Amino acid sequence: MCGIVAYVGPKDAAPILLEGLQRLEYRGYDSAGLAVVNSRSLKTRKVKGRVADLAAAVPAKFKGGIGIGHTRWATHGAPSDVNAHPHLDQEQRIAVVHNGIIENADELRRRLEGDGVKFESETDSEVLSHLIGRMVKETDSLREAVLRALKSVVGTYGIAVVDAQRPGEIVVARNGSPIVLGLGEKEMFAASDVAALIRYTRQVVHLEDGELAVIKADGFNTFTSDARETAKEPFTVDWDAGHYDNGGYEHYLLKEISEQPDTVARTLRGRIDDRFHIAHLGGLNMDARETRSFRRVKIIGCGSAYYSGQIGAQLIEELARIPADAEPASEFRYRSPVVEPDTLYVAISQSGETYDTLAAVQELKRKGGRVLGIVNTVGSAIARETDGGIYLHAGPEVSVASTKAFTSTAVAFALLALHLGRVRDLSPADGRRICDGLRRLPEQIKEILTLEDQIRELAKKYADAPGMMFVGRVRGYPVAREGAQKLKEISYVHAEAYPASELKHGPLALISPELPTVAVVPDDELLDKNLTTLGEIRARHGRILMVGHRTSEAADDCIVVPRNEVELDPILLTIPLQLFAYHAAVALGRDVDRPRNLAKSVTVE
Ligand code: F6R
Repeated sequence: MCGIVAYVGPKDAAPILLEGLQRLEYRGYDSAGLAVVNSRSLKTRKVKGRVADLAAAVPAKFKGGIGIGHTRWATHGAPSDVNAHPHLDQEQRIAVVHNGIIENADELRRRLEGDGVKFESETDSEVLSHLIGRMVKETDSLREAVLRALKSVVGTYGIAVVDAQRPGEIVVARNGSPIVLGLGEKEMFAASDVAALIRYTRQVVHLEDGELAVIKADGFNTFTSDARETAKEPFTVDWDAGHYDNGGYEHYLLKEISEQPDTVARTLRGRIDDRFHIAHLGGLNMDARETRSFRRVKIIGCGSAYYSGQIGAQLIEELARIPADAEPASEFRYRSPVVEPDTLYVAISQSGETYDTLAAVQELKRKGGRVLGIVNTVGSAIARETDGGIYLHAGPEVSVASTKAFTSTAVAFALLALHLGRVRDLSPADGRRICDGLRRLPEQIKEILTLEDQIRELAKKYADAPGMMFVGRVRGYPVAREGAQKLKEISYVHAEAYPASELKHGPLALISPELPTVAVVPDDELLDKNLTTLGEIRARHGRILMVGHRTSEAADDCIVVPRNEVELDPILLTIPLQLFAYHAAVALGRDVDRPRNLAKSVTVE
């Protein structure tokens, strides 16, 4: 959601904070601010708008070698200069930046106001600066003040705090919102995401929930919430600053769509075994006996991750013949799910930090469930919490809408399904068929990307529609859902996805020339049924854009993609829908990489 950056060292903090905030802007971008300590006083700048607006508001001589910065995605209080972080205490001694939600903020605010504290903003976060401001007078240590203040707080937070009277240290703490420390040469960084640190260091330490750290130019110490020191091993991030550049593309989204031949190849690398036609997935940490013991697979994730989980469930049922289904993690965690010992749970998350998915994993672990993670971000919270899993190796996804991580997740599920299938009844011949099919994917994605000009024209043609229907059947249905999701989130065109078979049970009433349909029609055993559905839509004068393996007179327009194995086709059918959504959004003049009201990595409930 929001982004946090903190710096302590010999350089001026402001340019480093601004640079870091720019890298985090994809997480939250309605207002931004920073504070630096200079001569034992705080200097702050806060603006509604983008990081570029903040940079313009920061004077060239904004001296101070310690500081904190924030880019915001509003939850409490509208985006405005005063609601932007950092928030200060009344004496203007303490500055705090906060990600997350303080659930008892109203109660704390009333109590503080009753004691005469005057609030500047409407945010929940401001209670933190006042609480810490009070505590710091009662104790000699900023760490102690933060620990005490956090004891009265209910909710989630990632915070960074500076004290103008202690210009050598920053205190950061995590509970539900990520905080990562970056280790430099005689300088230290902290941030909510490695993206902000990567230009300066690749040596990082992740804080756990309930942990706090004191960072100084020459090092750091970490503590539990009852002030016991913890030992942390730094690890080296394998992404570098280049991964975060737009590579000359107009938008990150187009860059990430175009990278998919490579990112899929990376997800597959070293994982296909041609001798036994199996998948090598060392990170699962399960032997063959355990792998055979599961009688069900339950997949959880949010948004597009959940839709990729639906593709995964279909692959697992087909290839391994184990009952499998996917459910939004946000629903799963609240319905007190029955957790079975012979069910394999799989949590999916690109960021590895989505709060609802993390909370669902924690609930599963508490009930003794066996949970694997399919995660892109190495060392992220979900990767750490799960018993094992598959890293996507897709590189960082910067654009808010997920594309390459979606595709790589579906590929990871194909590998998992192959693995589960080959310790059961999937024959060597079928194993070989799937291995060969997987290997063809990168080249076939390249072929689909060459259709971009055609798809751009189609997107322009359909972008004026007030809404679009997406339909698909069985393997095509999650593809339709993801196609509708991409279109609505980046172009703001209303888009609904339905199983093709459900149209006649209600949504057919919507069909008219004003509501075109995108139909996902693979050449599988359901082709005739799908063509019948197209006929039904046509009979109601609905326009149809068909995405499949052939042209058809039943449709007004067709996008034809190469055929793979029927089980793997959904992976390829999604790619043209990504390009379609992208070009529709461009045609409508949308802010493609930073769509309104959304943020990458939803670290609040
Ligand atoms: C849609 C999108 C979101 C994410 C969802 C989960 O394009 O990006 O729906 O898929 O917020 O995010 P992760 O995968 O980081 O858990």
